[in-house]
Amino acid sequence: MSETITITINGREIPAEPGTTILRAAQSANIYIPTLCDNDELNPYGSCRLCMVEIAQKNRTRMVASCIYEVAPGLDIQTETPRVQNVRRLVIELLIARNPYSSKLKEIAARLGISKSRFELEQKGCILCGQCVRVCREVVGVNAIGYKGRGYTREVTTPFEGPAIDCIACGSCSQICPVDVIPLKQKDGIRTIWDTEFPMQKCKSCGREIAPIKQLEYFQTKFKLPENHFDTCIHCR
Ligand code: FES
Repeated sequence: MSETITITINGREIPAEPGTTILRAAQSANIYIPTLCDNDELNPYGSCRLCMVEIAQKNRTRMVASCIYEVAPGLDIQTETPRVQNVRRLVIELLIARNPYSSKLKEIAARLGISKSRFELEQKGCILCGQCVRVCREVVGVNAIGYKGRGYTREVTTPFEGPAIDCIACGSCSQICPVDVIPLKQKDGIRTIWDTEFPMQKCKSCGREIAPIKQLEYFQTKFKLPENHFDTCIHCR
């Protein structure tokens, strides 16, 4: 096992594992850094820029995204300087201009002393944190959604903006979305997500809805389960 190194955060010496990020080291020392696109189940991504911190290097300081910047011996980090606060406030103002209704964004904004945005932007809802795209690809292993466009017009969508042909309707994208903008509905034996309808498998014994048929078929193939494995629900097995 590699040896623990020492870094300094806000003047306090903190032990850290080599290869970990500044964010994880700060979290393990209970130092708050706001985040939106970070999720410890997913690979580091660094898109929202809310987690910016200031590091001292040679005779100058520079801003880095703490969720993707790896620790190094003697690294000197500040998480609450006026420069850091200004960047975070700007980022959260831009995000709440895109989505003024999210309780998660409001909570972070309040913590940063922001009650409303100076900016008037089209309210797109999605804040492009990319967690939905990444959970689908990295955890579920399906890759059913992706990005379209660039910059401010960038959007998360299905291939060719049509039906979600590769989606298995597991709902991971909807669950992980920090601003709740991926609707998932379930009614009368049908789950609807990405404007696509997926019939639910019913338990052959009690009639309870188990999961979308497509999701169960995916698991069956992936884990080489017997064909009748999902015929009954866990209560009836
Ligand atoms: S949490 Fe680091 S850039 Fe989003």
